[in-house]
Amino acid sequence: MLEYLRDRRPDGTKEGCAEGDCGACTVVLGELAADGRSMSYRAINSCIRFLATLDGKELITVESLQANERDLHPVQQAMMDHHASQCGFCTPGFVMSLFALYLNRNSARREDVIDALAGNLCRCTGYRPIIEAGQNMFAYPEPARWSRTDAHSVTRLRLLQTLRRDSRDALRLPGF
Ligand code: FES
Ligand code: FES
Repeated sequence: MLEYLRDRRPDGTKEGCAEGDCGACTVVLGELAADGRSMSYRAINSCIRFLATLDGKELITVESLQANERDLHPVQQAMMDHHASQCGFCTPGFVMSLFALYLNRNSARREDVIDALAGNLCRCTGYRPIIEAGQNMFAYPEPARWSRTDAHSVTRLRLLQTLRRDSRDALRLPGF
């Protein structure tokens, strides 16, 4: 999936280790929860995920968070306000891990943020401001794009339900 993204889209999603260790390539996957009646979002490493497994799911990359030129998503704004980016290479991955947490919760304790960031390495080791950004991102006003309300709306759920196909129509690639 990472190769596909970096070949075809802006280069927001980064390649670090390319073996699932550093989290620079983190993206968020939206899918129907097990009950089929709600949305579930989780951060994944795109470098160790096969493209064909996206069939019927929603892929969110860092480029799609910002509503417009002016308005950053609360996760991005909190990262900026807390000076949580140093060299910046790891930042898109941190943003996406925090974004998954943001969509799934209304608040988070320090331990929750640390858990959410367990798969992300920052070589500049500036973890304190990143964790503070994760704790404070919930206090920002609802964003114009990617609010929790939108993410869990019936409209989005229906869209995803229509993507559900039987195996005959499923995405096919060589080897899958
Ligand atoms: Fe390091 Fe994917 S590039 S986990
Ligand atoms: Fe430099 Fe994280 S800000 S690696």
